[in-house]
Amino acid sequence: MIICKSPEEIERLRRAGRMVREVLNEASQRVRPGVTTWDLEVFVERRLAQLGARPAFKGYRGYPCCLCASVNSEVVHGIPSERRRLQEGDIVSLDLGVILDGYYGDSAVTVPVGEISESLQRLLRVTAESLELAIANLRAGNHLGDVSAAIQEHAEKNGYSVVREFVGHGIGRELHEEPQIPNYGKPGHGPVLKPGMVLAVEPMVNSGRPEVRLLEDNWTAVTADGSYSAHFEHMVAVTNNGPDVLTRI
Ligand code: CO
Repeated sequence: MIICKSPEEIERLRRAGRMVREVLNEASQRVRPGVTTWDLEVFVERRLAQLGARPAFKGYRGYPCCLCASVNSEVVHGIPSERRRLQEGDIVSLDLGVILDGYYGDSAVTVPVGEISESLQRLLRVTAESLELAIANLRAGNHLGDVSAAIQEHAEKNGYSVVREFVGHGIGRELHEEPQIPNYGKPGHGPVLKPGMVLAVEPMVNSGRPEVRLLEDNWTAVTADGSYSAHFEHMVAVTNNGPDVLTRI
């Protein structure tokens, strides 16, 4: 069952969403050559404590940290480490979740480390664009498949592939609610979108083939062919006046 939220609940989700995005932006500004992904973890943990929010990922199915930091061919769920020092030319996906006042916030962004190649700039741009195209399709009366198809079409049109193993999700008083939101699909298929639905849409786009494998830590997903991967995520409320992005500052 897809839980529709009241306007009051949407305001609470907006507070959680804005906070998570604010801290994510602050963490992004700290990304530069020489910084470790553990430095970023320490920063966000401290910042959430200051802001009075709880980390949503730490302890979730045993995940050990507040932040997921996935470098280059790492797709999602990279565990922050003192040994993972960012280098000029890398890309790093930062994914953060919070619980504020009983409601979840969840957002992700992929950022360049120093100067990156034009081909990586294009991967980041196309992945961010595929998220914006998905958001434009989050209209009452549309099908969820319209949203998924918009992501897949834009990524594949640009010579990239979408990851099948991880999906976006409904969000509210739980981190992961129904429906699942694949980054591939067919227009006109799937559930019809209704006002009050709040959806976390999160395209994961690979520069090479779509397959992923799991590292020994049982968390870090990497591209099977070693190609680069980008990830962006926003929380969006479906309203009678079109999409309302709750993680926009
Ligand atoms: Co998510």
